[in-house]
Amino acid sequence: MTNVLLHLHLALGAFLLLALAIDKVKAWRLGVLGASLALVITGAFNFMTRMTGAPAGWHAFIGIKLLLALHVIAMCVMIARGTGGAEKEARWRKGALGSCALVVVIGLYFSNFAR
Ligand code: HEM
Repeated sequence: MTNVLLHLHLALGAFLLLALAIDKVKAWRLGVLGASLALVITGAFNFMTRMTGAPAGWHAFIGIKLLLALHVIAMCVMIARGTGGAEKEARWRKGALGSCALVVVIGLYFSNFAR
């Protein structure tokens, strides 16, 4: 169960990263908003289950990851609303893409290399 949810979390994160990278947040609005909600739920579950026996630095980096993930989700919601105008949305997308890449790297590192 724990690993299934971790892999689901990984798949949802990859989907969000792809949507940001190829500028499909608006076109895939429903999928992006659904994936964001599911990432928060599966992320909270991962947080509770993977805290035990956490390696050094885990709490600090997962805390930073959580804040960056919230930045990504907030930007996705604002882009999906479509009221920002093209210039602002392009800026939001670039910022969110950078944060999302960092979030994925931190997550993959602590899930696969730090333990
Ligand atoms: C933009 C949203 C997010 C993305 C793109 C993302 C991405 C990832 C990725 C790629 C992994 C590695 C999974 C694997 O190797 O199978 C991961 C792990 C994890 N994520 Fe997220 N995540 C997001 C949101 C969240 C949120 C909101 C939380 C809530 C605290 C969270 C908590 C965690 C935890 C605790 C782990 C496991 C770390 C470990 O194994 O020690 N994530 N995430």
